[in-house]
Amino acid sequence: MNTILTYLLQYSDFVSGEQIASHFNISRTAVWKHIKQAEERGFDIESKPKKGYRINSLPKDIIIPEILSKYYGAPFPYEIVYLDCIDSTNTYAKKLALSQKKGNALVVTEDQECGRGRLSRPWQSQRSKDLTFTLILHTSRNLSEFYQYTIMSAWTVFEALSRILGPDLSRDLKIKWPNDIYFENKKICGILSEMITEEMNIKTMIIGIGINVNSGANIEKAISLRMLLKRDIDRNILLTELARSFHENHAMLLNDNFDTIFQNWKKHVGWLGNSIRFDTGKKIIEGTLLDIFQDGSLKILEGDTVNQYYSGDLLI
Ligand code: BTN
Repeated sequence: MNTILTYLLQYSDFVSGEQIASHFNISRTAVWKHIKQAEERGFDIESKPKKGYRINSLPKDIIIPEILSKYYGAPFPYEIVYLDCIDSTNTYAKKLALSQKKGNALVVTEDQECGRGRLSRPWQSQRSKDLTFTLILHTSRNLSEFYQYTIMSAWTVFEALSRILGPDLSRDLKIKWPNDIYFENKKICGILSEMITEEMNIKTMIIGIGINVNSGANIEKAISLRMLLKRDIDRNILLTELARSFHENHAMLLNDNFDTIFQNWKKHVGWLGNSIRFDTGKKIIEGTLLDIFQDGSLKILEGDTVNQYYSGDLLI
């Protein structure tokens, strides 16, 4: 992050090179170099002799880490790692978490070349149109609590998308077990939760989120926020709000308030009580989705027997 940019973003008028240099205890040449770097990223910065520097406009359509911090209005709860292009933010985040002692972080990219989905499926997104990011959350929970993170993540994104879509549209928003978000029968968001474990404990959660934001209708059975709202969405605002909600809901989880999150999540799970087809990984079964337990498992009525499944895929 360019800290000088963060500083300059607090002002709407010119700030002198001298003021910036003395604030950061660096030379005015060093200030100038930072300004040049910011201009290369697309910031329009006016410089005037005796007056200093003023940001006239921001680069369009890219994620700006410095802006996320400004929008957040308080210290951003995650270290931001911004990448122009990467194979997969989940793969990168996992390597990062394993290789360095880093705090909780948010890895975000404009473009994924090899985005991964659940059950080894690919995840497609459009460069600088959609949102693809991964949260690295360090924790110390029992392996059996993995599902709490899956459910908390789905609920967090569901809540944020409902706010953006407003009451009318969000009526048709639902969660597909365990953590996809659908609008009617079309997917708007997918989440890939992974973990780094140590003995029987989860050491780090790697939560990868892909949201169709400003992309068009080129993927069958998918829909984007833009297609629903008929306008472009500011991805910097969306990402800030998601980070805020994640921070709050993660705190709830750590304070043993999972039940509240679970009840909210369950209220919005679609296909509960309906006839469904379910891929167990070994075969496809047909039945009625009777219930979902707190450990994330499904209770399915098949013929006259009730079975419980912990993993698999609901076929829509
Ligand atoms: C799914 O629906 O199967 C899950 C899709 C998860 C996609 C996101 S995009 C950001 C992160 N990086 C990845 O490679 N995958 C997740």
